[in-house]
Amino acid sequence: MLLIVTKTINVILRKLLKLTYRVQLKLQWSGQRCPDWYDHLIDQYVWSTSHWVERGVFNNFFVQMNARVLELCCGDGFYTSRFYAERAESIVAVDHNSTAIRHAKKYYRRSNIEFRCLDILLNFPKGSYQNIICDSALDYIPKDALEPLIVNIRLALGSKGLFSGSTVINQSDPSSLFHKERAFFGSAEDLKQFLEKFFKNVVVLTTRFPNRENLYFVASQKPITTLNKGLFV
Ligand SMILES: C[S@@+](CC[C@H](N)C(=O)[O-])C[C@H]1O[C@@H](n2cnc3c(N)ncnc32)[C@H](O)[C@@H]1O
Repeated sequence: MLLIVTKTINVILRKLLKLTYRVQLKLQWSGQRCPDWYDHLIDQYVWSTSHWVERGVFNNFFVQMNARVLELCCGDGFYTSRFYAERAESIVAVDHNSTAIRHAKKYYRRSNIEFRCLDILLNFPKGSYQNIICDSALDYIPKDALEPLIVNIRLALGSKGLFSGSTVINQSDPSSLFHKERAFFGSAEDLKQFLEKFFKNVVVLTTRFPNRENLYFVASQKPITTLNKGLFV
């Protein structure tokens, strides 16, 4: 009986959440000025696509057990908590948007995550890390700030750490999301060539969907094969 009641409540809540997240999406994302960050529960309830899960799965291939992780531009904190925190010893997850960080602290708090509100271009987090992750945010960085940022990433990773993440190409309406002055890669080859200026070893993968192409990258000074035995054989 309790199970039937619980499942009935969940059916009603699912329908309600589907509706309210749809409204939230429309109100937040159809105006002139879209927010910088995104509440990924919208994906769960509104879209019937899978691309939003890929970045969490991809980076997790590279997050080493008990690693010290730095996540740049963490947004709502969904991936930090649901994907990376389980394997990491500690995660510093940063974003310059105070609303995003408030949201992350409220919904994705875990004992090994420290969410910080800061601008990575002005105040790159101190310390050394085994993994640095940056999802869906290289295209938010002004072009002239990208190289100094990658130099900071490389320094914080040392000779063995891994830089991984994702970015997007071929949006159906590129003008709505990208500004000419932001770092935007037109192909996997573009991104690979750029990262190879800083890292000896770079792998870039592409996934394609009807309205979107995603680029996934991993870069390190060490050969990626030797760091991840069992993944690339
Ligand atoms: C598209 S969101 C991606 C968020 C998250 N990584 C994800 O995959 O959902 C881009 C994020 O980059 C953050 N961001 C952009 N420039 C930044 C900067 N200079 N310092 C810190 N965060 C920045 C924005 O606030 C936003 O949360």
